[in-house]
Amino acid sequence: MTQTEQKPAANDTPLVPIEKIVSLCKRRGFVYPNSEIYGGVSGIYDFGPLGVELRNNIRRYWWWSMVQTHDNVVGIEGANITHPRVWEASGHVENFVDRLVECKKCRRRFRIDHLPAENLEQRKCPVCGGELTTEPRVFNLLMETYLGVVEGDRMKTYLRGEACQNIYLDYDNVLKSSRMQIPFGICQIGKAYRNEVTPGNFLFRQREFEQWDLQFFVHPGEMQKWFDYWKQYRYDWYMSIINHKDRIHFREHSSDELAHYAKQAFDIEYQTILGWQEWEGIHWRQDWDLSRHSEYSGQDLSYTDPITKERYIPWIVETSGGVDRTFLNLLLDAYEEEPDPAGKEPRTVLRLHPMLAPVKVAVLPLQKNKEELVTTAKDIHKKLQRLMVSQYDDVQNIGRRYRRQDEIGTPYCVTIDFQTLDDHTVTVRERDHMTQERITISELPMYLLDRVTWN
Ligand code: GAP
Repeated sequence: MTQTEQKPAANDTPLVPIEKIVSLCKRRGFVYPNSEIYGGVSGIYDFGPLGVELRNNIRRYWWWSMVQTHDNVVGIEGANITHPRVWEASGHVENFVDRLVECKKCRRRFRIDHLPAENLEQRKCPVCGGELTTEPRVFNLLMETYLGVVEGDRMKTYLRGEACQNIYLDYDNVLKSSRMQIPFGICQIGKAYRNEVTPGNFLFRQREFEQWDLQFFVHPGEMQKWFDYWKQYRYDWYMSIINHKDRIHFREHSSDELAHYAKQAFDIEYQTILGWQEWEGIHWRQDWDLSRHSEYSGQDLSYTDPITKERYIPWIVETSGGVDRTFLNLLLDAYEEEPDPAGKEPRTVLRLHPMLAPVKVAVLPLQKNKEELVTTAKDIHKKLQRLMVSQYDDVQNIGRRYRRQDEIGTPYCVTIDFQTLDDHTVTVRERDHMTQERITISELPMYLLDRVTWN
């Protein structure tokens, strides 16, 4: 990635309330509540014009660094609906559950695994102090759906509860249709659906969300080496896109959290107003997934080493994170209200990494009633649009236009003024430091590309 000079974040910047982000997202077209005109649906959101650009940039950077820059990793895109046996083999039909207790007084419900230990021990409601029910109620999180139209012949199946299952299902096809040999990985970005009993905190816990997964298939003897490699790689990846480097860490799972087949598991956590929360999990999956799918499908998913002829079920390192959590964490990380030295209202600025910013450049004629300025600005905008997302804006004074762009994270504003008409130069104003530089129109495309793309 091109390292542009981002303004380092001050360690003492306060954590941003989620409400500020919710409000910005609605106001500026990043995220809308789904079906809002019908009153909305809890835990489901739509992405607006700027949201789509930001999500696409986030996805593209992940894909580039995970798939395109690794010779031993390929990508797939699987369907949201699979054979129902998949979810029996994966253990989701039996075990993908939330256990809830209810307060007898205020009737609020709490997930047992989210309750503070002392509330659980004393069976005391953390909100009103009332008594909690003793026997938890169990809810399966899989979303059911039906294939077929004829009553009686319809097959019950599920929207995928985790995206990664397609990777195990396609593993053998990828092996046979590509030139991959172990060790190699398969990546996918895709939607997952969970009937979360307690959705909330905006994009943090949703019922429809998007995951990115790498499943890396290895010889059992090389498991530790590859686990360490991907664990560090994923951590460095997140570090490369955040400003607050002190707000990220690993949390190792304790022995009672580990699945029976896992020797180790780590969460990459990020600190927000919600506390330290999981962003991505790095999991030691051993041979669990391929063995289970071999057993349930009756297909042999073992691998024969082409040189040694050794036959074994490959072990798996999984890195599994959320596109939506990345979207939310990046907004929380980037949002700042900066006091104005001139004493006017504070400047709201999104210090997004330039390569992720939804709009890369805004082209602004100094005045909109001067035809030559407008024509030159529109011409520059049209040329830049072929290379990156550019916005043309001639409404209100230049200061207000800069503010509008700062608020959506646009890293560069190009101003066309009377000097432009004389010497073919423009002013480039940078978002974080608000510095201005004069460069020629012919230099502008390369100047911007160098700063807003990764390589
Ligand atoms: N295949 C492993 C797996 O699905 P997970 O911890 O359940 O593991 C992986 O999910 C990532 O998906 C999480 O780290 C989180 O970023 C994201 N995620 C999980 N549930 C989510 C939800 N309800 N809403 C938004 N993102 C979610």
